[in-house]
Amino acid sequence: MKKRPGSRRIILKAPWEIEKLRAANQIVAEILAELKELITSGITTGELDRIAAERIKQKGAKPAFKGYHGYPACTCISLNEEIVHGIPSDKKVIKEGDLVSVDLGVILDGYFGDAAFSTFAGSPPTEQARKLAEVTKEALYAGIAKAKHKKRLGDISAAIQNVAEGHGFGVVRKFVGHGIGKALHEPPEVPNFGTRGTGPVLRKGMVLAIEPMLTIGSYDVDILDDGWTAVTGDRSLSAHFEHTIAITDKGADILSDGFI
Ligand code: MF3
Ligand code: CO
Repeated sequence: MKKRPGSRRIILKAPWEIEKLRAANQIVAEILAELKELITSGITTGELDRIAAERIKQKGAKPAFKGYHGYPACTCISLNEEIVHGIPSDKKVIKEGDLVSVDLGVILDGYFGDAAFSTFAGSPPTEQARKLAEVTKEALYAGIAKAKHKKRLGDISAAIQNVAEGHGFGVVRKFVGHGIGKALHEPPEVPNFGTRGTGPVLRKGMVLAIEPMLTIGSYDVDILDDGWTAVTGDRSLSAHFEHTIAITDKGADILSDGFI
């Protein structure tokens, strides 16, 4: 997710470019589906990242996150109170009941794919934790349902916020979704909170990465000393889901479909 970019023009994509973006995002979806199956107690986040790196290469793509402002890995893997940008490590062993959020980006033929999910290693530790992950996913799909030609960006944001806060969860403000195309982050920002009927008008050909991050408690964010890992201010659990979608005449076309 993008940290407050400047507002430049939204780049509309031609149908052939949307197909390039679909190809990149389908690689992301396939790898995320595989990683999801591998998440069990005992595996390290470093091992999961190595598997992602291998698959990206095999599929003829390149990692999008590695080297991005110096980021050191192919995936972001965030555990429990870590919201996003957790750095994979061989020292981070996943244990039973951990809430694991995996975010992956690739570049294929110059076009970017970006998507994420949260899941549990084994069973969720509490009913509230299970609910957090479920509602975060529901919020993502509620946002996607508003991603239609001639609607407004604020319609997406408000739908996400309503679902999240309707269930008593916090919505992270510090990180937002983004346009995506020949860059990982393009205008517009896609906040997960806002007011319907406001913001840019959505148009056919816009491609957006929508990525709500919800918390059980405070939505304040601390950044750990590694300079990347974002954790909740009160160290409560956080979940994250992300899809890259294209706006069409008929509604949202989920380019990264297939792993949630
Ligand atoms: N999905 C996130 C984003 O849109 C992940 C970026 S991680 C970074 O920004 F390493 F690339 F920064
Ligand atoms: Co993103």
